[in-house]
Amino acid sequence: MTVPRTMRAMRIVQHGGPGVLRPAEVDVPTPRAGEALIEVGAAALNNTDVWTREGAYGRPDDPAALSGWRGPLTFPRIQGADVAGHVVAVGATGDAGLVGLRVVVDPATYDAAGPDAHPVGLMGSERDGGYAEYVTAPVDQVHDMTGSPLTVDQLATLPTAYGTALGMIERGRLHEGETALVSGASGGVGLALVQLARARGARVLAVSSGAKIGAVRAAGAHEVVDRARDVPGQLRALAPEGVDVGLDVVAGSLVHDGLPLLREGGRWVTAGALGGHQVGFDVRRLYLHNRQLIGSSMHTRAHFRLLMDLARRGDIRPAVAAAFPLGEAAHAQDELARRRHVGKLVLHP
Ligand SMILES: NC(=O)c1ccc[n+]([C@@H]2O[C@H](COP(=O)([O-])OP(=O)(O)OC[C@H]3O[C@@H](n4cnc5c(N)ncnc54)[C@H](OP(=O)(O)O)[C@@H]3O)[C@@H](O)[C@H]2O)c1
Repeated sequence: MTVPRTMRAMRIVQHGGPGVLRPAEVDVPTPRAGEALIEVGAAALNNTDVWTREGAYGRPDDPAALSGWRGPLTFPRIQGADVAGHVVAVGATGDAGLVGLRVVVDPATYDAAGPDAHPVGLMGSERDGGYAEYVTAPVDQVHDMTGSPLTVDQLATLPTAYGTALGMIERGRLHEGETALVSGASGGVGLALVQLARARGARVLAVSSGAKIGAVRAAGAHEVVDRARDVPGQLRALAPEGVDVGLDVVAGSLVHDGLPLLREGGRWVTAGALGGHQVGFDVRRLYLHNRQLIGSSMHTRAHFRLLMDLARRGDIRPAVAAAFPLGEAAHAQDELARRRHVGKLVLHP
């Protein structure tokens, strides 16, 4: 396969508004030993792209500091954690048999070897990502999707949204027959949570809003409550026996309101803070009922392999709301932030 010398990419040159995301003609990266070069077929957008661009993560010693999720970023940085495409080359010691395969990239950098290591970095943040024509990745994080019934756009939606969702479900130990509560249910992670929890055989109670409620129900939620109304009251009526696992990307007042809704020994898994990151709750509602509050960031290698198996079998069918050309990445991020859509937005290089 002939690989050109240069490629188009969209890079952030500093933290800020959509204007800091700029087009550039850059060298196609050379795969190092143990890496593959992937021609990007589609790159999905995530809320983390917007927060990374804005520097909205704060730092432990200064919550208002401009920062990426793991600390300071190196600029310029090609954004984009979620890539599906074809392998076009491998570096020294790489398996040449990978060339030509349709793949999905696990975008995490891990703190150790092994299936349960913690993710401590992300493509598009700590290394260059998929808002480009080509991207490199370690070969053991390039997953063969030959035979999956999903389209390249659908495959691109999997790593961050579905990876995070499956990480939450696994860390929250959700079992068949249990009741799960999903917040932010029309969003990327939320819709993935609905589908994955349903596929696991759970009863799914979702929190969403307005015109998106019907789409969340169509994605598999058994019940959807409107967050514009009394959420705890609606949930208590739907699950008087309590909720086994709260799968929450909203936080804010929902943690205070949601913890008392858990059954004895219930788990509240938090992975996002769209409703506010300073949270107050009555700790008695936690310890007196042996409830657990679990922080969840992305996925492990084991979670990602499980996700790829689900995608190969077609057990999940991600919804793609819209596709944009790569050069319209800033506009696409703007659309993401407006949250008028249901499902995932993707870029085509
Ligand atoms: N921990 C991790 O590894 C990880 C990974 C990915 C994302 N995240 C975080 O998870 C969160 C969701 O990400 P996403 O990509 O799914 O976002 P998204 O696609 O933008 O969707 C978020 C959804 O949350 C709901 N929402 C938005 N603002 C809200 C508010 N103020 N109060 C209540 N609900 C609100 C909306 O759904 P409704 O209108 O239907 O309620 C919206 O569709 C973000 O905080 C993101 O940074 C964390």
